[in-house]
Amino acid sequence: MNIAVFASHGGSDLQAIIDGCKNEQINATVTVVISNNGNSMALQRAKNENIPSFHMSAKKYGSEEVLATEILNVLNQYNVDMIFLAGYMRLLHISILEKYNNRIFNIHPALLPKFGGKGMFGMNVHTAVIKAKEKETGVTIHRVNAEYDSGEIVAQTKVAVMENDTPEVLAERVLYREHEFLIEVISNIANGKIQLG
Ligand code: GRF
Repeated sequence: MNIAVFASHGGSDLQAIIDGCKNEQINATVTVVISNNGNSMALQRAKNENIPSFHMSAKKYGSEEVLATEILNVLNQYNVDMIFLAGYMRLLHISILEKYNNRIFNIHPALLPKFGGKGMFGMNVHTAVIKAKEKETGVTIHRVNAEYDSGEIVAQTKVAVMENDTPEVLAERVLYREHEFLIEVISNIANGKIQLG
C-alpha cells in the first residue's frame, strides 16, 4: 500500500507513520508527502527520509481548481492507494474526495463528534476539553469528506484528562498516544481489517 501523507506543520504524526513503515509495523510505504506550508517541519522530515515531497497551495497555483489538478497528478505519479491527513489544515477539493472516495483518513486529537468542526484544531481542542471538565479525551481516526471532522469514524482510543492538566500538558499526552495509535490503525488499513473503498 502506497501512502501519501498531507501535513501542514510539525509532522510528528508523519514521522510516526514513516517510522512504523520503516520498521515494518505497518506493511506500507510513504511514497509522497504534500504540504500547503513551504516552511513546514513536515517537508523537512520528508527530505531527511528521502521521501519525495511537494509544497502545494492554492496561493502557489492561483486557484483551488488548479491546485487540485496538480495534487491529483502527484498522487497518480506516486501510485497512491491511500491518503492520510496528519495535521493538514485545509479541506480537500471535491475532485480529490471523489477520486479517492473512502481512501482518505484524518487524525483528530479528541473523541469526535465532540470537539470537532471548523476552528477545532491544535490547542483550541484541548482548551475546550478542559473547559468542558471532561474526564477523558482521546484520538479519532475517520474518513474524510467535504466537511471538517465529520466523516465515518474508523477508530478511537481514549486518553485520561487529569485534574490539573493545562491544554499544553494534555496536548502532549494526546499526541504521544496518536503516535502509537496511528501505527495500529494504519496497519489495520494496510492489512484490510479496515477497508478501503
Ligand atoms: C495532531 O494533534 C493531529 O491530531 C492533528 O494535528 C496534529 C498534528 O501534529 N490533526 P504534528 O504536526 O504531526 O506534530
